[in-house]
Amino acid sequence: MKFEFNELTVRFGSQVVLNQLTESIEGKALAIIGPSGGGKSTLLRVLGGLLPADEGKFALNGFWVENNEQQLNEYRKMIGFVFQSNGLFPHLTALKNVTLPLIHTFGMDRQLAEDKAMALLKKFGLEDSSHKFPSQLSGGQQQRIAIIRAIAIEPKLLLLDEPTSALDPELAYEVLAMLKQLVESGVELVIVTHHLGFASNACDTVMYMDEFGIGEFGKTEEILKSPNTERLQRFISKILSI
Ligand SMILES: Nc1ncnc2c1ncn2[C@@H]1O[C@H](COP(=O)(O)OP(=O)(O)OP(=O)(O)O)[C@@H](O)[C@H]1O
Ligand SMILES: [Mg+2]
Repeated sequence: MKFEFNELTVRFGSQVVLNQLTESIEGKALAIIGPSGGGKSTLLRVLGGLLPADEGKFALNGFWVENNEQQLNEYRKMIGFVFQSNGLFPHLTALKNVTLPLIHTFGMDRQLAEDKAMALLKKFGLEDSSHKFPSQLSGGQQQRIAIIRAIAIEPKLLLLDEPTSALDPELAYEVLAMLKQLVESGVELVIVTHHLGFASNACDTVMYMDEFGIGEFGKTEEILKSPNTERLQRFISKILSI
């Protein structure tokens, strides 16, 4: 993926979360790290076309998006989104959760959509869950179904906002292992995460942001091994001390 930002600005009232961001970032898997309230979710929502910027624009792989409903709609179809809590529909089975966007947003034939969904559920060892409702699945299984739903549409990019933060460590591991497998198979993603181990093993690019803006970004190895700024050094030692 290649993101280009041009004077991108997002404010909430008098609070400026993104201030005239003008950068270009390239990578296959980008991990966004940083303290609470630093603007990570806000940036991800902008990158997902869910929150229009107040000023400026950005491009994904050369496709420019401004605060324009038609562009945003077209752009959103290229993106798969996974939130902290999985956002599955409680009244639909796992299979129907996966087929819903395929059928309703992308107009795919029902049988084709079900075949596609089942193939993905099998690939990730979840075929036995296909007829279960979210309440009958573990948190880790639910989150993996949510990821399958997001990748079933073959998005250009998968965006994940702390997909493991509501899970016990073992279930978080299942989800991260699945994401690592996806990255290895060529799926490109941007993930907000506190798992520095995952960031360094599965992501080739890292961005650090806090309330003062984007502090550092670049190749994972360089950023995590030898952070340039004191604020990132402090953040890394804090995370590693827990
Ligand atoms: N819809 C909103 N209305 C007003 N302020 C908001 C809104 N969304 C976010 N903010 C503010 O913007 C700042 C950045 O919030 P954001 O949720 O992006 O942080 P974050 O880095 O994702 O934090 P966390 O790690 O806790 O999820 C915070 O100060 C927050 O209070
Ligand atoms: Mg957040």
